[in-house]
Amino acid sequence: IVKASSFVAGTVSQYACQRRTTLNNYNKKFTDAFDILAENYEFRENEVSSLAFMRATSVMKCLPFTVVRMKDLEGLPCMGVRSNLLLYVQEIIEEGESSRVKDVLTDERYQSFKLFISVFGVGLKTSEKWYRMGFRTLEEVRADKTLKLSRMQKPGFLHYEDLVSCVSKGEADAVSLIVNNTVRTFLPDALVTITGGFRRGKKIGHDVDFLITSPGLQEEEEILHKVIDLWEKQGLLLYYDLVPSTFEQAKLPSRKVDAFDHFQKCFLILKLHQQRVDTSSSSTLKESDKAEVKDWKAIRVDLVVSPFEQYAYALLGWTGSRSSNLNNMIFLKAKSEEEIFAHLGLDYIDPWERNA
Ligand code: CTP
Ligand code: MN
Ligand code: MN
Ligand code: MN
Repeated sequence: IVKASSFVAGTVSQYACQRRTTLNNYNKKFTDAFDILAENYEFRENEVSSLAFMRATSVMKCLPFTVVRMKDLEGLPCMGVRSNLLLYVQEIIEEGESSRVKDVLTDERYQSFKLFISVFGVGLKTSEKWYRMGFRTLEEVRADKTLKLSRMQKPGFLHYEDLVSCVSKGEADAVSLIVNNTVRTFLPDALVTITGGFRRGKKIGHDVDFLITSPGLQEEEEILHKVIDLWEKQGLLLYYDLVPSTFEQAKLPSRKVDAFDHFQKCFLILKLHQQRVDTSSSSTLKESDKAEVKDWKAIRVDLVVSPFEQYAYALLGWTGSRSSNLNNMIFLKAKSEEEIFAHLGLDYIDPWERNA
């Protein structure tokens, strides 16, 4: 741990993609508070304030020491001298917590929105609608039989408990095995890489993200269709949404693009069968009871397919974090993430340092 006094605030980049940010967060007390405030502003459609607090969180996460006095923040980017942000920091330094943040946590609108968006397929628009309709709990939403749930929201409610409980590293590895085996059935030389939070070193996630490519991969290759068809036949598929590539449009000359989001992808919910660790207890169950034991868990999985030549860009983009991502990238030839950083004249940042 670095002492605050020997730390040069001026060396902290104003760009998140250049700040080495590991999962070792010395300022959780502050960043948790900022996250709540950012979310509350988002629920109230105040995007400017929401972004200000998200940026402050991102900066504080990269500090190699715990902030204990206001002076520690001097010279840091995004610490919003104009906003009320510093008042929160002061309150937390002095009181250990912020009363205003506690107020947000007990706020009816905040609590309801928080609940509603925890359902897969529910965003701000639906939350707003349900809130206006007078709903405050998921039970109230479930009980209203006149509500039309979307194709996403139905499995969202059906598998709610599974989906809100986080995905462990062990579960991610089990899913990884299934994805690898299935993809290689159709594409023996496929490269299947775990991306997202798990590639950045996180021990839990809300889903498991994969990037798939292969040297001979044709653009029209039907790999995702084949994978989905097989899982469907095997009874492993609880939900899927196949999104075609918009890559050709993105490649049009002189168009600045979000290079990350143009690949063919599939958002899905997979039925992960869990090995029963305790065999003795299950063998004592009566046959009729055995059927009642749920031995699987619904897991959110994202599959992305990129052409081989774009693998490095896709890998960088789907590793995240969202805050760490470079935007307005142009496609240059790059075989690796290192080459992309070099092309842009940036210092290379390792995946586990991209937790901005
Ligand atoms: N991403 C993207 N476009 C999307 C969704 C995701 O480019 N429409 C990228 C983002 O860069 C993100 C990464 O894919 O960082 C993984 O997204 P996500 O699974 O939502 O976030 P994680 O960082 O993996 O965090 P979590 O543990 O919550 O899954
Ligand atoms: Mn993820
Ligand atoms: Mn996420
Ligand atoms: Mn994801």
